[in-house]
Amino acid sequence: MTKRPTRWQESGHSANYGMRFAELIAAGEDVEGEARLADTLLPRGARVLDAGAGMGRVAAALLQRGHRVVAIEPDAVLVRQARETYPGLPIEERDILGLGPDDGPFDLVVCVGNVMVYLAEGTERVALAAMRDVLAEKGRILVGFHLKGRPPHAREYTVAEFEADLTAVGLRVDLRSGTYQLHPANDDYGVWILSRA
Ligand SMILES: C[S@@+](CC[C@H](N)C(=O)[O-])C[C@H]1O[C@@H](n2cnc3c(N)ncnc32)[C@H](O)[C@@H]1O
Repeated sequence: MTKRPTRWQESGHSANYGMRFAELIAAGEDVEGEARLADTLLPRGARVLDAGAGMGRVAAALLQRGHRVVAIEPDAVLVRQARETYPGLPIEERDILGLGPDDGPFDLVVCVGNVMVYLAEGTERVALAAMRDVLAEKGRILVGFHLKGRPPHAREYTVAEFEADLTAVGLRVDLRSGTYQLHPANDDYGVWILSRA
């Protein structure tokens, strides 16, 4: 069966995204907000998977904080940018859908920055189940995406739809917030901490 393209591939947004983060980093801007929240969820030296790592900013920030990080990203151009920007970052050109239980266990899977709304159509539950299957016994998933003002070509994914998908794959919401600084939940952006139901 031919593999469906991800919404990310269809968006053609890769070059803009890569350039935007290269510029932010060059300007000394903060690109580590998601990683700081992830770090607070973890013991020192934890095992972390960055699923859909893009140009590697979150994975690199967690590696720098002493965690054992593996990043996966199917977009070859972004993998190259990650390797150039963060030499030594373990990043593999891989899709979440290709993960198997042998890839784990991880204390935390990070799936932030709209990855969930850029998956290939109809693959959300498969992706969630794949991330669930690589969790350590008390492992968690940190996920976040735009609910409103979604970026070009991203799907609309309502809280109700997302949370129904979580239930269907045996994941539970431990916390829902509106930001990576844990402001109250809102209609613009969703941040969830998940674990096995
Ligand atoms: C807006 S970028 C965010 C990248 C990174 N997480 C960040 O926050 O900087 C969305 C990413 O989702 C990735 N993505 C989409 N579908 C994916 C899949 N099935 N497996 C892994 N990554 C995927 C894209 O390749 C792209 O890098």
